[in-house]
Amino acid sequence: MTSKTVAFFGASTGIGHSALKHSLAAGYQCIALCRNPSKLTSVLTRESWPNLQVVQGNAHDTAAVSRCLKASDNKLVDEIVFTIGGKPIPAKMTIDDPHVCEKGITTVLNAILTLRGQGVVGRPHIIVCSTAGMSEFGRDIPVTYLPLFSLFLKVPGADKRAMENKLVASGEDFTIVRAAMFLNDGETNKQVRAGVEDPQTGIESKAIGYSISREDAGKWIARNLVVERNPKYLNKTATIVY
Ligand SMILES: NC(=O)c1ccc[n+]([C@@H]2O[C@H](COP(=O)([O-])OP(=O)(O)OC[C@H]3O[C@@H](n4cnc5c(N)ncnc54)[C@H](OP(=O)(O)O)[C@@H]3O)[C@@H](O)[C@H]2O)c1
Repeated sequence: MTSKTVAFFGASTGIGHSALKHSLAAGYQCIALCRNPSKLTSVLTRESWPNLQVVQGNAHDTAAVSRCLKASDNKLVDEIVFTIGGKPIPAKMTIDDPHVCEKGITTVLNAILTLRGQGVVGRPHIIVCSTAGMSEFGRDIPVTYLPLFSLFLKVPGADKRAMENKLVASGEDFTIVRAAMFLNDGETNKQVRAGVEDPQTGIESKAIGYSISREDAGKWIARNLVVERNPKYLNKTATIVY
């Protein structure tokens, strides 16, 4: 389906950037919201990627977000890849914007409702990036990570929880991707394992692991959720680890 249109929030770096690169390579029309577009256009040039449209703005601004959610012909985009996150402040065990994801997903969901009210049609599949360690049905991180999670991920974890809950309650189609707690850099050929959880009924399969790279997490998202849209992950949580 090469006519698919995908909106990206948080693709200037990290997991989102990798998912964007793989979606562009698959030939999809991609719209990326960036606070500082040159961060993206200096790496993904217009000449190399004519199927990329970069929109300047903040993911908490409804007008800017709405511009990214509308594909052509009064239709909403087919997929939304939402990977925004705050910058860690390790000394204070917090992040620069403690509600960055909650505010962002609220903006996206409100923008969808407003656009529908204006006659724009469609039902995008909303893919958000969360963190392993969030399961309410059982341990989903290695035992040795438990103290680290409660220390360093208390603030971002609460934000991710609020984001997950709002998305599940929205009634939209979604996949929550919980990436391994430790993110490193570099694309590899390592096998990625995915554990599946249903937000209502609990764990369907477990994958507990120590790490994953941002590039491999983004590649997994693009391949399994954007290109294939594997039904196994629809309206579920997928925990991805090596
Ligand atoms: N242990 C961990 O750290 C861990 C583990 C698993 C998952 N995660 C989560 O996984 C996600 C992706 O992680 P990552 O390391 O790939 O992220 P990252 O490289 O830090 O990228 C975050 C992105 O969000 C954007 N952003 C933040 N606030 C924004 C706003 N208000 N408006 C527009 N864009 C905004 C940033 O844009 P700018 O370039 O403008 O800053 C950047 O593109 C994050 O939610 C992260 O919390 C983290």
